[in-house]
Amino acid sequence: MEFYKCETCGKEIVILKEGAPETMCCGKPMVKIKPRCLGEKGCEGHTIKMMKKMGRIYLCVGLDSEHPQSDRHYIEWIVVEHENGFTFRKFKVWEDARICLRSCDLCKPINVYVMCNTHGLYKTEMKI
Ligand SMILES: [Fe+2]
Repeated sequence: MEFYKCETCGKEIVILKEGAPETMCCGKPMVKIKPRCLGEKGCEGHTIKMMKKMGRIYLCVGLDSEHPQSDRHYIEWIVVEHENGFTFRKFKVWEDARICLRSCDLCKPINVYVMCNTHGLYKTEMKI
């Protein structure tokens, strides 16, 4: 799974299957967004906390305290990539950056992508 952004208009897209020529927007090739791996230095505030409850998995951004969700600094979206596809959740400013999934969809390791409007894209693999 890859993410691209148009540097002119800000559009972001997900590529589900690579191939064909470059993806264009505003007359230019879109730029690949390279995720930082959680666990690297400086990523602490974007670590994913996982909770399991009644057949559901809850993921939230921030380990000791939740990531800020203010108009200047907030989590824009989370994508969880799993064996059967992916789950996308977009957040509004002031909305908690949390996502709830059914654990039966997540029997294998999952990739979690988190987009912070200030710090960029983060990726982590998690085992359920
Ligand atoms: Fe951030």
